[in-house]
Amino acid sequence: MSIDTSTEYAASLDARDPLANYRAQFHIPRAENGEEAIYLCGHSLGLQPKRAREYIEQEMKDWQDLGVEGHFRGRHPWMPYHRLLTDQTARLVGAKPIEVVVMNSLTVNLHLMMVSFYRPTAQRHKIVIEASAFPSDQYAVKTHLLSRGYHPEESLIELTPRPGESAIREEDIQSLIAREGHLIALIMLGGVNYSTGQAFDMAAVTAAGHKKGCVVGFDLAHAAGNLQFQLHDWNVDFAVWCSYKYLNGGPGCIAGCFVHERHANDPRLPRYAGWWGHDEQTRFQMGPNFHPQSGADGWQLSNPSILSMAALRASMDIFDDAGIANLRQKSIALTGYLESLLDQHASDKFTIITPRDPERRGAQLSLRIAKAGRALRNRLLHEGIMCDWREPDILRVAPVPLYNSYTDVHRFVSAFIAALG
Ligand SMILES: Cc1ncc(COP(=O)(O)O)c(C=O)c1O
Repeated sequence: MSIDTSTEYAASLDARDPLANYRAQFHIPRAENGEEAIYLCGHSLGLQPKRAREYIEQEMKDWQDLGVEGHFRGRHPWMPYHRLLTDQTARLVGAKPIEVVVMNSLTVNLHLMMVSFYRPTAQRHKIVIEASAFPSDQYAVKTHLLSRGYHPEESLIELTPRPGESAIREEDIQSLIAREGHLIALIMLGGVNYSTGQAFDMAAVTAAGHKKGCVVGFDLAHAAGNLQFQLHDWNVDFAVWCSYKYLNGGPGCIAGCFVHERHANDPRLPRYAGWWGHDEQTRFQMGPNFHPQSGADGWQLSNPSILSMAALRASMDIFDDAGIANLRQKSIALTGYLESLLDQHASDKFTIITPRDPERRGAQLSLRIAKAGRALRNRLLHEGIMCDWREPDILRVAPVPLYNSYTDVHRFVSAFIAALG
């Protein structure tokens, strides 16, 4: 299909974009020539909301002025500070407030969830992941299996695309579950695969898994703030995500966790406990026995980093204002525009390996590059275009609806095609 490839058309799309003003709420990194870079790395580290500094400085000031009293008398007292994020987080991931909490980091949360939700039996002890899951997920799942007395060779099922294909077919996931579901204790997929950008049908996977008695959890690192989903209504058992990608919380920002309401007060679930998960009413009686708070809050271990949460709040306020449904709508259009511009230059020098169906992807397109290698990414960087390279041959490009424009996408495609030669 041919489309208008002019810069004027890109500018006209920007002029009609109802979300275009949100870009001004972010710091855009500078290129070598001092101009604003074309930043297409929100799948890796989201940009800094301009107000993040003010939110953090407020807490620095309370710490300076109040010391330990900041826990109770600060403008936003630190004791219940994490609750400031609860409603916004719940809205973002389609959950009830009792089902979400911000705590720890992603991989830590994944282990904590497996402590509670990987309940193997002699017959049912397998875990299903993507063969191309992010390495940290693979390390977590494999070492978790070993720590529980199981061996990945017998207890891990890795989903792969069919030979010659890049995405895993949904029908293959469904037939695996139908065939081997009675042996599977836990299905743990990414909401969006970090490498291919494939978005899984979380509702369908959860329904199929539950039909066979499996627990179903998701790593939403590349899905949170990117896709719109309904974790509660879809009956997902648990989910974990980081907040430094599409959620713009800053490097190493505190992570998120979802535990479905039906598990909120289940005393049979084992867990690794810490004092911050203890019932708030009696936490400071300093008793020796653990009584968890209900819901996701009861999985907290430690008192959380206030400065990290302050930065995240700055971004979550923007998400709340823009609305994830509106952002997703723009994202589909923006990524579709990127795809159509690239298609105008189709050649054997690159292949789009991300699914073509907008429902099966988020903001990211992954391009398999035939020859140019990492030098291509470095050349783009030199020209002020920031996207990332994943060995051996993938360039990942993420136009983020909160701060990227159609003009950004247009400039990327021109520079990319020129660099390919
Ligand atoms: C899909 C996925 N899982 C896990 C991780 C690891 O996250 P963390 O270092 O926050 O534990 C990442 C980091 O990029 C990721 O993309």
